[in-house]
Amino acid sequence: MEKITKIVGLIFDLDGVIVHTDMYHYKAWKKLADRLNIFFDDQINNRLRGVSRMESLEIILENAKTLNPSDSEKEAYATEKNETYKELLKQMTQADLSKDVAKTLYELKERNYRLAIGSSSRNAGLILDKIGLSDFFDAVSDGNNITNSKPDPEVFLKAAEYLGLKAEECIVIEDADAGVEAAHRAGMKAIAMGDAVLHNNGDWNIKNFNEILDILKQL
Ligand code: BG6
Ligand code: MG
Repeated sequence: MEKITKIVGLIFDLDGVIVHTDMYHYKAWKKLADRLNIFFDDQINNRLRGVSRMESLEIILENAKTLNPSDSEKEAYATEKNETYKELLKQMTQADLSKDVAKTLYELKERNYRLAIGSSSRNAGLILDKIGLSDFFDAVSDGNNITNSKPDPEVFLKAAEYLGLKAEECIVIEDADAGVEAAHRAGMKAIAMGDAVLHNNGDWNIKNFNEILDILKQL
């Protein structure tokens, strides 16, 4: 019989799960791609979910075979995208945190779950600040403390370590297929939402954030 470990920790991806900054990532990459005359659409954008800034650029450059940028030009492109992205983040306020997400997070805290962020982003701190959650999570593991981004499990293993928990005591919530794979490679189950649902690799699929509460009740 499979040994059932009690779930104590929940690790949330940030962009596209807690808040819709995935939309701003898209807009910022689109602006750069248009300037460089590179084809970029929604489908390519979905491949960037959970992937680091530089790896995202490499995926975009797959459609610019004749461009051949040097490493320093690539750095400049990534910086340009990030500047546009941060400009878009300026318009964010606490109102960008949906009532559904906020209510569910506070309910989970009430139920004594240990809560962490597991994001590939280096802007995670800034975003959490914008939506009024900078002191909310018990741990934040993000692009600043990892060497390999999703689908590598590092960001989630670090999150579990920061929470003081074993991998199997945690569940991940993800909108990226790469993030679902990262969770599984970390030895954690994954709740899929948004684009990740279409890939059908999650252990559960949800449409609304509050469905997390029902999934946990049934464990
Ligand atoms: C992830 C996003 O959360 O962070 C990716 O899903 C993004 O799209 C990655 O590329 C890195 O983000 P940032 O903010 O460090 O450029
Ligand atoms: Mg995401």
